Amino acid sequence: FGEKLLDGTSLLLTAGPTQEAIDPVRYISNHSSGKMGFALAAAAVELGATVTLVSGPVHLKTPQGVTRINVESAEQMQQAVMAEVETHQIFIGCAAVADYRLAKIADSKIKKSQEQMTIELVRNPDILAGVASHSARPFTVGFAAETNNVAQYAMDKLQRKNLDMIAANDVSVASQGFNADHNALSVFWQGGHQELATAPKTEIAKQLLTLIAEKYNQQ
Ligand code: PMT
Repeated sequence: FGEKLLDGTSLLLTAGPTQEAIDPVRYISNHSSGKMGFALAAAAVELGATVTLVSGPVHLKTPQGVTRINVESAEQMQQAVMAEVETHQIFIGCAAVADYRLAKIADSKIKKSQEQMTIELVRNPDILAGVASHSARPFTVGFAAETNNVAQYAMDKLQRKNLDMIAANDVSVASQGFNADHNALSVFWQGGHQELATAPKTEIAKQLLTLIAEKYNQQ
């Protein structure tokens, strides 16, 4: 009686952007606010889960009952996630992780000189793919931020990264996705698909977690 969908389940998730330093005062980042990931963390606590949230730099309060680990770069986020992965049963990668970082971070502030300058970038590790290929693999859920061919690219990521589920958002629509209060998701899993229509991120978070709990509990 009164049992909740995620009672006794431990959930690890990432949220927000990463910041990739250029020099001591500059960085490369993106417009992720952390709202989607923080809404998921809060909703998971409500559904009875134990929640660890690895967050990039955002201006949001930690939801009640959530253990938060703050990181800045993709490499730090990966370290924090891999240190926690074995003790969690579900992983959700909601962070907008920078795909590239500086090949070399300058030790001191870069001075203005030539008219043009070039910075060299190298690929960051793929945190989600790392989790999905771990020997003690949790139920692994990815996000996909796409501006076109949303379903096609999302299903491609589901297969290629060996995920249990992927939630795709069309981030070309200004009123949803990055830094908006609303979102809409196309959710895919092996053999199934569901559309979550535009709603506040707090509402979308509950709907997505209900789907995750259903599939996770069916395993
Ligand atoms: O934070 P908000 O302002 O609320 O915005 C929410 C959001 C739009 C950021 C969120 O809903 C979202 O789509 N998050 C994923 C953004 C993203 O980076 O998507 P992607 O298609 O580039 O990456 C696919 C997946 O791989 C994601 O789960 C991502 O976390 C993961 N990834 C990507 C690159 C990398 N180096 N490591 C990863 O783990």
